[in-house]
Amino acid sequence: MPAHVAIIMDGNGRWAKKRLLNRVRGHEQGMETVRNIVRTAREMGVSALTLYAFSTENWARPKAEVMALMALLRRFLKSERPDMMENHIRLTAIGELDRLPPEVRADLDETMARTAANDGMRLSLALSYGGRAEVVHAARAMAEKVRAGALDPSAITEETLSQHLYTRDLPDPDLMIRTSGEMRLSNFLIWQLAYAEFFITPTLWPDFTPEEFRDIITAYGQRERRFGKV
Ligand code: IPE
Ligand code: IPE
Ligand code: MG
Repeated sequence: MPAHVAIIMDGNGRWAKKRLLNRVRGHEQGMETVRNIVRTAREMGVSALTLYAFSTENWARPKAEVMALMALLRRFLKSERPDMMENHIRLTAIGELDRLPPEVRADLDETMARTAANDGMRLSLALSYGGRAEVVHAARAMAEKVRAGALDPSAITEETLSQHLYTRDLPDPDLMIRTSGEMRLSNFLIWQLAYAEFFITPTLWPDFTPEEFRDIITAYGQRERRFGKV
């Protein structure tokens, strides 16, 4: 069983296009998949689930789509609070959260605060997240400490850098799933995924089912992780 699963939830737009619907309908349907997969992961005993919900690059999408995604996010945060409490889920977020609209940020902060003491599955949302921006942020934080005399450059290790990332209190993902068939990382957890197992499925995110998720977890269990050894 992977302790930490990370998912690039891709294909909402194509799902909508296939049905001659607005892209936003695809995002709405995708939110249903989020609910189902969060429940399934929790039931299976996954300790941490990180979902790539909005990238730094996604800010460049048409304003109407960005606004619709922000509204959907607020809806999700509010509607899922009771379920998170009931199921002991702790919600956290990674990314440049300061760039989120204030009302989204407020709903996010409230959900994080209310679920902070929950000791069940950790649900981490990557919002306004970019892997390179995260590494730059860590480099700056370390440089500030060096300048203040609190960090010796020669003492900087991989562990030091990990401790300055948004994911400092999470183990690296064991498994990365990407839906809709794209063979790329799209700036997702570029440091943390160094030794993760990758599963890319052609299924579009709104069509992704708990059954397929379970199948991937089973297939993960059959992979041999060598970490460079023989
Ligand atoms: C993923 O679906 C959701 C976000 C990136 C917010 P897309 O919107 O990227 O869907 P496609 O890739 O256009 O099908
Ligand atoms: C990655 O999907 C970001 C999220 C799933 C939030 P994109 O659809 O933005 O990635 P590209 O543009 O295909 O690389
Ligand atoms: Mg996409």
